[in-house]
Amino acid sequence: MTDQPGQGSERSPEQRLPVPRPPSDRVPAKAERFTAPAQIQATGGLTPERAAKIVRQSGNARWVAFLGVSIVALFVIIYYFYETGLPYQLSVPRLDQQADAQQVTSIERGYNLFQANCARCHGALGQGGIGPVLNDQAKLFAHLSPAYIKNVLTVGGRYVCGNPASKMPVWADTNGGPLNYIAIQDLINFIRAPSTYEFVVHDALLNEPVLDAQGHVVTFKGWLDPTFKPAPDATTVPNCYLGDGGPVASQGALPSGATILEVTAQGVKYDVTTLTAPANTAFGIHFTNKDDATSHDVDIRKTDGTTVVVDNPTINGPTDTTYAISSLPAGTYTFICSVHPTLMSGTLTVK
Ligand code: HEC
Repeated sequence: MTDQPGQGSERSPEQRLPVPRPPSDRVPAKAERFTAPAQIQATGGLTPERAAKIVRQSGNARWVAFLGVSIVALFVIIYYFYETGLPYQLSVPRLDQQADAQQVTSIERGYNLFQANCARCHGALGQGGIGPVLNDQAKLFAHLSPAYIKNVLTVGGRYVCGNPASKMPVWADTNGGPLNYIAIQDLINFIRAPSTYEFVVHDALLNEPVLDAQGHVVTFKGWLDPTFKPAPDATTVPNCYLGDGGPVASQGALPSGATILEVTAQGVKYDVTTLTAPANTAFGIHFTNKDDATSHDVDIRKTDGTTVVVDNPTINGPTDTTYAISSLPAGTYTFICSVHPTLMSGTLTVK
């Protein structure tokens, strides 16, 4: 079939333009675009009453909208001050209130944790016992900082004086202990709780306030006195509660004229391999540790190298200390570094 130009639908599209209009009698009637109730159509438009009503109603609607917006605006303003606190500190910001409440809860939990885990060694009031005193103001002022307590609880008692055989266990579960980081934080908060505030003792299981025989709520106070200031001439609390080198090592514990043996550690070696001390009399070992940031000590053991006779605290070099040994029966002993027992030892003859 051949393409015949000019023949109706068989013309190609561009040949069909412009589209021919249909004959005028086939134009559809105009659609009714606006409808109004019949009585209005009957009047041929708005009656004055109807127009007045519409004006009144839209006025009311504007009032309602204004009221709605005002309520929302008022709420936003009030909430703003509720959240951030009134100016001139007339009210406490909500977040601070919450933080305070959480701090109190944490301290109260810390109290229970302390009584359950720590009191047997440090005393129910932190007054000390097997472990050193904790409720001492001078200690709380600087020594027992949150970071320090956290380290002690994470590393264990060896962190305090470098004694690897410390009785104080590791507490943090990150290091094999029983307490998680929240419990550790609760303990830190409790140890550093202010003595100006009264906290409520809660039952560890039910979390209900504990009542005494008279039905009063049992409370406790923190240890830290926020107004405490060390006396101007006060000596700083030593890093190790035993003092620098500890009481056994203080020269004062030795009678004057006592023999002092010299031992120096350098390069993880003692400078001497034999020492001689008098039997059954006090003598001292003046120990100099020249190894930077390395702990050494001079322990005295039986010649088997393992049975401890005198356990002296380690010192972290470079520093020196004097260990006082009250008396040893005559015999042959091994003096040894408990940190490097295979590298540092020698023979002590007591006669
Ligand atoms: C088995 C006894 C024992 C228990 C239980 C114990 N401690 Fe200790 N604690 C010690 C000893 C001992 C030391 C001293 C470290 C050393 O030289 O051996 C110490 C040291 C500390 C120190 C450092 C004190 C200072 O002056 O530097 C803090 C803080 C401490 N303990 C907190 C705690 C807390 C908190 C608990 C409970 C979770 C606890 N201890 C449980 C025995 C104990």
